[in-house]
Amino acid sequence: MKIFIKTYGCQMNERDSEALGALFSAQGDELVSDEKSADVLLFNTCSVRDAAERKAKGKIGFMRKLKKEKPHLIIGVLGCMAQRLGDELLAELPHLDFVLGTGQIHKAPEVVAQLRAERSRLALTEPFPEEVEMLGAHGESSWSGQIAITRGCNRFCSYCIVPYVRGREVSRSQESILLEAQSMVDNGVREILLLGQNVAAYGLNGDIRPPADDHSPFAELLEKLNEIPGLLRIRYTSPYVSYFNKRLIDALSSCSKVCHNIHLPLQSGSNTILKAMNRQYTAESYLEKVAQLRAAMPDLTFSTDVIVGFPGETEEDFLRTRALMNEVGFEQAFIFKYSPRPGAKSAELEDSIPEEVKLERNNILLDDLKARISAKLETLKGSVVEVLVEGVSNRNAARWTGRTGTNFVVHFEPDENCTPGTLRKVEVSRSGGVSLFGRLLPEDK
Ligand code: SAH
Ligand code: SF4
Ligand code: F3S
Repeated sequence: MKIFIKTYGCQMNERDSEALGALFSAQGDELVSDEKSADVLLFNTCSVRDAAERKAKGKIGFMRKLKKEKPHLIIGVLGCMAQRLGDELLAELPHLDFVLGTGQIHKAPEVVAQLRAERSRLALTEPFPEEVEMLGAHGESSWSGQIAITRGCNRFCSYCIVPYVRGREVSRSQESILLEAQSMVDNGVREILLLGQNVAAYGLNGDIRPPADDHSPFAELLEKLNEIPGLLRIRYTSPYVSYFNKRLIDALSSCSKVCHNIHLPLQSGSNTILKAMNRQYTAESYLEKVAQLRAAMPDLTFSTDVIVGFPGETEEDFLRTRALMNEVGFEQAFIFKYSPRPGAKSAELEDSIPEEVKLERNNILLDDLKARISAKLETLKGSVVEVLVEGVSNRNAARWTGRTGTNFVVHFEPDENCTPGTLRKVEVSRSGGVSLFGRLLPEDK
């Protein structure tokens, strides 16, 4: 069979899709990137904002024509939107064959076989069974790979649908993560990205209270991963600010493979809004944590997520967010316009900020960000940076790209020893606005 998988949403979904594809490949099926040639179309969906759902529904709706031409085609919707809407989706989209929620994705090969044998329709949305190890299969190895170390989320930020569609937070055992990491490295992976909605809460048994200063199972995991020979870099996303205690900050600064870049979601710089969002920190405590982290690792870079237009966000609240973002000096940021999610707590509040105000605030933060990034890149001119070589540049086949541990992209002309997944030094010659250009230095002997 030819299987087409399209993924929406976050890296957790990308990882689930990778594992799902590997399950199909393992039974001899072929993964294809063209929906027209496929026998099975799978859409792994996201519910985080209304736009994410509309995008997936639009695409899936469009597949009706293909199904008319190819009646044997099987179409399945998986993941977060599948979990949220369940059999409502079957009613809404008559050409859909099945729906598998976030806890049932691993059943896709079985369900497809069943539906090929006898045509029917089904929707499964039971939570992830405890006895099943989280989808651990990997696709074809490259120099980078991802490991989901937790599933679900217990934090219930008031705007967020994730705890409802991904279920309770569960951490995998350290042993199974280390085995997975070792086997990835054996297959050539050099950089591992650890994934979870709240990664730094790894191993805390779903307790949302940040642990004592000397306790961090996440720090222990990083230290163990740091010892794997052949692994060059460790990244992680997303941590919640309150879990960066002394134990974790010490581990981050002592583990040489852990990259000096943190994606640290802020959401808002106004304490009133943070409280209404059920975020358990203040603008002041966030800034203090950033200062502690910077004191331990001066070259640390930060990225963040911010929501504009949360119900009741005044101009003053917004200006606090703007000021705090400039104060931290985020090197990257993802700005989202608030979108009420039915079922999440904040959906009970009036979506009071007009769309044009959300858009205006969004654009102001994006303009600030652009200016900050280009100023920051200018400061790197003339410096020598270490990059992990990624491969040929997407934009110019004569150039290759690499990425610094601090997450800046650098373009350079390759030499004959250039290989993806190796560390090389580059002397930065100029900034291209969003990325850097430089001269590859000869390999260290
Ligand atoms: N677990 C991650 C976030 C996952 S969702 C974390 O807490 O770090 C990714 C981002 O989407 C969030 O950080 C938030 O900025 C944004 N988001 C979530 N729900 C949203 C909503 N209802 N409207 C707009 N943006 C939202
Ligand atoms: Fe959503 Fe908050 Fe959990 Fe992140 S921590 S997934 S924003 S509820
Ligand atoms: Fe979207 Fe689900 Fe991720 S809602 S952001 S795909 S956890």
